[in-house]
Amino acid sequence: GNSPKGYSYETLLEIANFLLSRISVKPHIGIICGSGMGSLAETIQEPVSILYEDIPNFPVSTVEGHHGQLVFGKINDIPVMAMQGRFHYYEGYPLWKCCLPVRVMKLIGIKTLIATNAAGGLNPSYKIGDIMIVKDHINMMGFAGNNPLHGPNDERFGPRFPPMSKAYNYEYRKVAREIAKELNIDNIVREGVYTCLGGPNFETVAELNMLKMVGVDAVGMSTVHEVITARHCDLNVFALSLITNECVTSYDNNDEANHEEVLDVGRMRQDILRKFVSKLVERFAQI
Ligand code: 6GU
Repeated sequence: GNSPKGYSYETLLEIANFLLSRISVKPHIGIICGSGMGSLAETIQEPVSILYEDIPNFPVSTVEGHHGQLVFGKINDIPVMAMQGRFHYYEGYPLWKCCLPVRVMKLIGIKTLIATNAAGGLNPSYKIGDIMIVKDHINMMGFAGNNPLHGPNDERFGPRFPPMSKAYNYEYRKVAREIAKELNIDNIVREGVYTCLGGPNFETVAELNMLKMVGVDAVGMSTVHEVITARHCDLNVFALSLITNECVTSYDNNDEANHEEVLDVGRMRQDILRKFVSKLVERFAQI
């Protein structure tokens, strides 16, 4: 059954086994599609799609721009699984529940997680449509005591006090920069620090200026807790942010962040992102 903090190992195993019974090849790499980036899963060959609502004990995602299904299949002959639509804290799920799919991926046998998100660009050199390789994160929600690993620790997933100093795999980031050169997109590919705020509102000018001061390059509403959960159970992690808007850090600027723009930029970059992620999968599988 469900313990008050998190699902039991047994429940997660049941979910994993349910999914494994529906597929013929075990995926090696898991992909989380960010807002407006659901089309990443369309690169998957021989797809088997399973709606969240058809998976016992799985949460159901509610936000526009998210499909709400798992897609299993192959990218460049590498078996993968993708989440089309993730669970966000602002929907009302506790963080451990937002991250439940990461543990299910682990139990399915995944070794590598590729997390993608839409984010606001805080670094003044970033432009709309840039792709930021996540070098590191600042867990703002964790500063306030909210953490997906809060509560009793199950050693079968990982240690009570997991390190987080090598959260974003160095080799993967290096390979991603090489691929960016090969695809001739190195002019739009950056590398920087991501932070997640709880949302659902976008940030105030003062909040964004504070984040800028502490070294944040891009801000969103996801990924950080998923990466913590993934590193806890020893998955290798790569993450990227699609910069969908420039953060407003001046009171003279009349622009306002909005979800439509986030989805538009996702559409604008979908071909490039599909090419990039498909190369990442190919190369990560060789590491
Ligand atoms: Cl400006 N803030 C947050 N928290 N998430 C975003 C964003 C901004 N732009 C896209 N996603």
